[in-house]
Amino acid sequence: MIVNFRDAITIEDLRRMANRRLPKVVFDYLDGGAEDEVTLRANSEAFSSITFRPRNGVAFDECDLRSSVLGFNLALPAVLAPIGYSRMMHSGGEVAAASAAGAAGTAYILSTISGHRLEDVKTASNGPVWYQLYLLGGRKAAEPTLERARNAGFSALVVTIDTAVAGLRERDYRNGVKALMGKSVLAKIPHLSQLIVRPGWTTSFLLDGGLRPLPNVIVPGNRPMGLQDVASALASSTVTWEDFRWIRETWKGPIVVKGVLTGEDARRAVDVGAAAVVVSNHGGRQLDQVSPTLRALSEVVEAVEKDVEVLMDGGIRRGSDIVKALCLGARAVLIGRAYAYGLAAAGRSGVARALEILKSDMERTLRLLGCPSVKNLDRSYIDVALMRG
Ligand SMILES: Cc1cc2nc3c(=O)[nH]c(=O)nc-3n(C[C@H](O)[C@H](O)[C@H](O)COP(=O)(O)O)c2cc1C
Repeated sequence: MIVNFRDAITIEDLRRMANRRLPKVVFDYLDGGAEDEVTLRANSEAFSSITFRPRNGVAFDECDLRSSVLGFNLALPAVLAPIGYSRMMHSGGEVAAASAAGAAGTAYILSTISGHRLEDVKTASNGPVWYQLYLLGGRKAAEPTLERARNAGFSALVVTIDTAVAGLRERDYRNGVKALMGKSVLAKIPHLSQLIVRPGWTTSFLLDGGLRPLPNVIVPGNRPMGLQDVASALASSTVTWEDFRWIRETWKGPIVVKGVLTGEDARRAVDVGAAAVVVSNHGGRQLDQVSPTLRALSEVVEAVEKDVEVLMDGGIRRGSDIVKALCLGARAVLIGRAYAYGLAAAGRSGVARALEILKSDMERTLRLLGCPSVKNLDRSYIDVALMRG
């Protein structure tokens, strides 16, 4: 059993450490997906259905992982995806994750559902930090936040479009998320044993102030939105294509549309002025039974590659997965759980370890493929015969 994050050699090692540190309710929130979790599993399985075609007998000194996304130079083609409630996984939360991303030379995307003030998150990183928008509290709440983000130095806006309502994450229901986040002490009692068996996490959570409201969603009365209001606020604040009109007027920097799974939606994103799209099914947490993102990637690349940058996320647990996504035309990927497991296991150091693991995986994979640079990756390095669709 691995007890120190330094000994973790795979993302799965960090996942197991996270599982041992977190109460079941928090681990399952992070680890789980929607309904039967078909898409959650399919996201990862899609990577195994692609095999490599290496060029052997090739040696080179430097292995170049650098890429540029939205004009930002990144040391590796993997950006940290927005993960809501990161502060619940570890008190360092979004500040810790952004700091580790900057130190590794990559970008961090801060979720609207964040526990640290966006200004503090920006200050923590010496790399690019982007803001992910949900319309919690509607346009009225979003506009001042976007102004805060711009003033703080956030350099891109990521608008998530696949969250018309929250997906049915059955694990959350069974673990009593609603009761634990609600006001009734009586309703919490049946679920408290999960916390008692994780005294380390529980102590640190209480010392950090327990369930905190959202400092980046300011609602009428000039107060941060409470967590118990998030689900209903999400359902009443779907982002639509029409919203991009005012969003574009309010946000002058680059806009990324996250949650695209078809060529048609990718084209709509181009039409509303996006600079990039993220092929994403929200890590299998929204509509279950949609395509794994690796499978949807080619359709989107074909539809809009000439007009915008195409990123993807979902199921990435190894550096070789990133290489495969790049071979299929992604400019870079977003990683979600892969770093969040590290955060939950060991805070900032755990995120740093997750990024080290993915980086050394990528270098090893490129050397074994006989490909000196991520810029040279293309379909000739993979065989997609086994991938359905
Ligand atoms: C615990 C958790 C919370 C998430 N919160 C958000 C969020 O607040 N906003 C958002 O756009 N996506 C959110 N996502 C989706 C991620 O940004 C990303 O699309 C997904 O995690 C990618 O799949 P992966 O975890 O398999 O890498 C969340 C994902 C997880 C696992």
